[in-house]
Amino acid sequence: MSYYEEIGLKTEPFSSSPDPAFFYRSSAHNTALQRLEIAIRLKRGLSLVLGDVGTGKTTMLRTLVQSFADDDKFTFHMILDPSYKSEFQFLSSLVKMFGVKPDSRSTLNYKDEIQKYLFKKGVDEDKTVVLLIDEGQKLSTPFLEILRTLLNYETNEYKLLQLVIIAQMELLPRVKRLKNFYDRIMLKYIINPLDERDTKEMIAFRLMSAGLDSSRRLFTDGALRVIFEYSQGYPRKISILCHDSLEMLVMNGDSMVDEGIVSACIKREII
Ligand SMILES: Nc1ncnc2c1ncn2[C@@H]1O[C@H](COP(=O)(O)OP(=O)(O)OP(=O)(O)O)[C@@H](O)[C@H]1O
Ligand SMILES: [Mg+2]
Repeated sequence: MSYYEEIGLKTEPFSSSPDPAFFYRSSAHNTALQRLEIAIRLKRGLSLVLGDVGTGKTTMLRTLVQSFADDDKFTFHMILDPSYKSEFQFLSSLVKMFGVKPDSRSTLNYKDEIQKYLFKKGVDEDKTVVLLIDEGQKLSTPFLEILRTLLNYETNEYKLLQLVIIAQMELLPRVKRLKNFYDRIMLKYIINPLDERDTKEMIAFRLMSAGLDSSRRLFTDGALRVIFEYSQGYPRKISILCHDSLEMLVMNGDSMVDEGIVSACIKREII
């Protein structure tokens, strides 16, 4: 029997994977999602979402894709890690991703073919092409330049490529220096950590999503307070601490996670 089954859950409540089914729509995440959805639907071009490590950026991105899943007017492409060795390699991967078959292998030719693809999809087929890039802080300046040229492809009314870049905060100063690029950002949003209320709600949401009966409580108020103080509302930290605490709860054979359990887990982690 798994540890979570022993406390009445059907599945692992605090897994570390970015699973949309466990994504709690905090006010910060919800605003980001709604604004991104609007920017994409209105074909506004470039959106940039920033956040510290472990604030839920990747999970949010997957949730965004899911919210368009039933709408065949949109074609999504996702780059999870844009660390390419050269501009040519970056363009090659875009060409491949878009399913374009260029007749010669040159940077110029690749850009032309991508432009043709975007016109075919966006104008002839009336589809919205969306490119999502996670780990955007790994985009080097030449890659940002390439993306800027792709954003130049447009009709009189709208951009042919909807580009969403999700990145850690360190991308911001670099992007700011690229005036041409920075000016094109139509939506800028920073995901902040959760406040205490949202931290508690996130924990409750994940437990409920894992099958916890609504009448059952697994964390005392004191435990929740310590989790917030230690995590400062960073979702990854919250999730890891809750996971460790539940494991210790089961090992100890107790019925509720209290301050003592959480503190013991924190101490163990620091050592
Ligand atoms: N809103 C949320 N609701 C529930 N769990 C969340 C939420 N946001 C993040 N998490 C959890 O926190 C962990 C980290 O999330 P995620 O990987 O999306 O963060 P990230 O910002 O992409 O991190 P990194 O900067 O390292 O790429 C995951 O286990 C995820 O399930
Ligand atoms: Mg991430």
